[in-house]
Amino acid sequence: MRKENEGAQGGSVARAILESKKFAVRALTRDVTKPKAQALRDLGIEVIKGDLDDEASVEAALKGTYGAFLVTNFWEHFSKEKEVCQGKLVADAAKRLGVKHVVFSGLENVKRLSGGKLEVPHFDAKGEVEEYFWSIGVPMTSVRVAAYFENFLTTWKPVKASDGDYYTLAIPMGDVPMDGISVADVGAVVCSIFNSPEEFVGKAVGLSAEALTIQQYADVLSKVLGKDIRDAKMTPEAYEKLGIPVGKEIANMCRFYQTRPDRDVKLTHRLNPKVKSFSQFISENKGAFKGV
Ligand SMILES: NC(=O)c1ccc[n+]([C@@H]2O[C@H](COP(=O)([O-])OP(=O)(O)OC[C@H]3O[C@@H](n4cnc5c(N)ncnc54)[C@H](OP(=O)(O)O)[C@@H]3O)[C@@H](O)[C@H]2O)c1
Repeated sequence: MRKENEGAQGGSVARAILESKKFAVRALTRDVTKPKAQALRDLGIEVIKGDLDDEASVEAALKGTYGAFLVTNFWEHFSKEKEVCQGKLVADAAKRLGVKHVVFSGLENVKRLSGGKLEVPHFDAKGEVEEYFWSIGVPMTSVRVAAYFENFLTTWKPVKASDGDYYTLAIPMGDVPMDGISVADVGAVVCSIFNSPEEFVGKAVGLSAEALTIQQYADVLSKVLGKDIRDAKMTPEAYEKLGIPVGKEIANMCRFYQTRPDRDVKLTHRLNPKVKSFSQFISENKGAFKGV
């Protein structure tokens, strides 16, 4: 599991690369005084202060490195423009410094792929950044990470039904399987990618431990937690009307997921043979469901 307060993807990647003992690791944070920064230093990671909005600090962080892992966090500001700016700033700096291999946590440009019919800003931004990296000739691999299993411990936690002794999962996927992975397992995949640049530079790879329907996710939760958990069978249209702040964004993400974007389960298992199934993940995190 991720450590308290540590960047989920970045922390996973930093730890996996450190464990592989092939590279020294430098981590960028806006606040080097946080306990999480100290925790990384205790592991032997060089932690330096920087900001993805500040070019000079990004250059200083990339200077002398063989490669870089980049994740941008849409959910901190909800701005597609800001996420694109941050990604392009790192791409330009990597180009200037001749970084040999960037692994970027990308996603599809849904707006472009759908001819403007569907907009998912946190995907579209990452898709634009992917395109930019490749257009300026940076040796980059994009990892398109499936929905985190960790979401089921927080935003997608089963909700008690108002009309009976059961719980529901409100994820508007219909009967189409949705790919998932524990974010803690992403680091080892990224580490394998850094070790095989000849196979992966210039490519986008979709990462997934497995794809289950929402009813199958509910079945695993029911079995492990000993509760009656069901798919709420909500449509994207009904989801949008719930009035939650990112309702439209998540409904559109699920509409896109329903088209089954390429997430390569076989490749993910080859790159990280220890990748966990949803059942394993939930069994190891039962403690997070105390209120259920
Ligand atoms: N949840 C999912 O299912 C899922 C699936 C696929 C992709 N994603 C994508 O994952 C991204 C979030 O990544 P995460 O889950 O690893 O988030 P997280 O755990 O909240 O970590 C975000 C990291 O970004 C760093 N950061 C944010 N703004 C920064 C800035 N201006 N300069 C330097 N560092 C900055 C933070 O570092 P400091 O605070 O220490 O500076 C922190 O380490 C989102 O864009 C989301 O779209 C999520």
